Amino acid sequence: MAQLWGGRFTKETDRLAYQFNASIYFDKRFWEKDIEGSLAHAAMLERQGILTEEERDAIVRGLEEIRRDVEDRKLEITDEYEDIHSFVEANLISRIGDAGKKLHTGRSRNDQVALDMRLYVRQEILEIDGLLKALLETLNGLMEEHLETYMPGFTHLQKAQPVTLAHHLGAYFEMFKRDRQRMGDIYRRMNYCPLGAGALAGTTYPLDRFDTAATLGFEGPTLNSMDSVSDRDYVIELLAALSTVMMHLSRFSEEVILWNSNEYGFVEIDDAYSTGSSIMPQKKNPDIAELTRGKTGRVYGSLVSILTTMKGLPLAYNKDMQEDKELTFDAIDTVKSCLTLFNGMIKTMRFHKERMEKSAMNGFTNATDAADYLVGKGVPFRDAHGIIGRMVLYCIDHKKAIDELSLEELKELSPAFEEDIYEAVSLKTCVEKRLTLGAPGVEAMKEVIAFNRKYLAADEEETPKIGDFRPLN
Ligand code: ARG
Repeated sequence: MAQLWGGRFTKETDRLAYQFNASIYFDKRFWEKDIEGSLAHAAMLERQGILTEEERDAIVRGLEEIRRDVEDRKLEITDEYEDIHSFVEANLISRIGDAGKKLHTGRSRNDQVALDMRLYVRQEILEIDGLLKALLETLNGLMEEHLETYMPGFTHLQKAQPVTLAHHLGAYFEMFKRDRQRMGDIYRRMNYCPLGAGALAGTTYPLDRFDTAATLGFEGPTLNSMDSVSDRDYVIELLAALSTVMMHLSRFSEEVILWNSNEYGFVEIDDAYSTGSSIMPQKKNPDIAELTRGKTGRVYGSLVSILTTMKGLPLAYNKDMQEDKELTFDAIDTVKSCLTLFNGMIKTMRFHKERMEKSAMNGFTNATDAADYLVGKGVPFRDAHGIIGRMVLYCIDHKKAIDELSLEELKELSPAFEEDIYEAVSLKTCVEKRLTLGAPGVEAMKEVIAFNRKYLAADEEETPKIGDFRPLN
């Protein structure tokens, strides 16, 4: 048991209590962030005349050695320390002696962990943003390819009106684009430095909080020391945004699973992204999509978990807050792997165009257009709606699609039908006439795709870097 305290204690901590309390098992992933924060703190302490130049140099050298040794696996982060902060500090002291004991001047583990968590979350936001962008690029590419791949659009999971695959995928483009915007919003709001808040009430040392904030790439220092050590809003916001990403992925997964079924047969998932059955040789299962759908639950769980932990906590720091780590790490890891695999899966998926088009033809998806046709011939819409309703019934009885009816059969239903009805209710016409911006008509879709391309290229030039993140719109 290696801990940073003990002066006022006369007894050893109970073994189980120690383990229950320790966080090294999971906060070891902060090791680089902890060193980064300590380097900034030490540099500031020297500039403020709190450390001598020699002391600062020794600390910097010691911390950099630790960084190198952990990287080179010469130094292992073991469970014998209570947390990552103790690990770094104890190692520093054993390397450089007394100067190491001065590093913690004007600092508490409360502001230290608040800093480490922010540094970590901030970096992960950028990584998730990058994965979302990669998915958007895949989607826009598929949209360009499938401008004329017709398929049924559904409401109530019943065939409604024909759309194109480009249009359908475009809906997901918008969702994941909003997810990226949420990443940017959260980043901007959280990018303030809590270091210098101390345990809760700041410190009597003349720290320059603007200095450490700038060194670490923050917009500035936080403005209330009690809030600084007890704020986990950004974690909650992130978990809410990640839950939304998962909800989008899960809806998409559900569709891929349906489309991949024998009944639909719209797509075939590549062998690299599907699995077989140990007993049924014919099976090729959409496991990646199912797992993505399934893992949505645990990310939602992390959000509810942190909200519940924070509810009712008095100011300022409470140990309850240590619970923020594992669930945030798990949610971040889950979302990153789902985004990566989902992207790979749809990139390699084959779309069965004829099957999709046939499905759009068989479900009376052109019934609205047939009604509009009659309106064009002077029939009032309400009457046209009734005529087409009877026509659909007739088609069902006679097992025919609308465009399979003869002109005589049509005239029987309404004398307003003429030869040009066939052209008017063809799938292509139905889609092509829908040209309002955001609709599936090719020209309308092309406009959106060009807009998407510009959106994706624009932030290429300003690829966010820690410290100067400027998300697009
Ligand atoms: N492991 C703690 C956490 O994650 C670090 C802060 C410890 N502070 C304290 N007063 N025990 O929240």
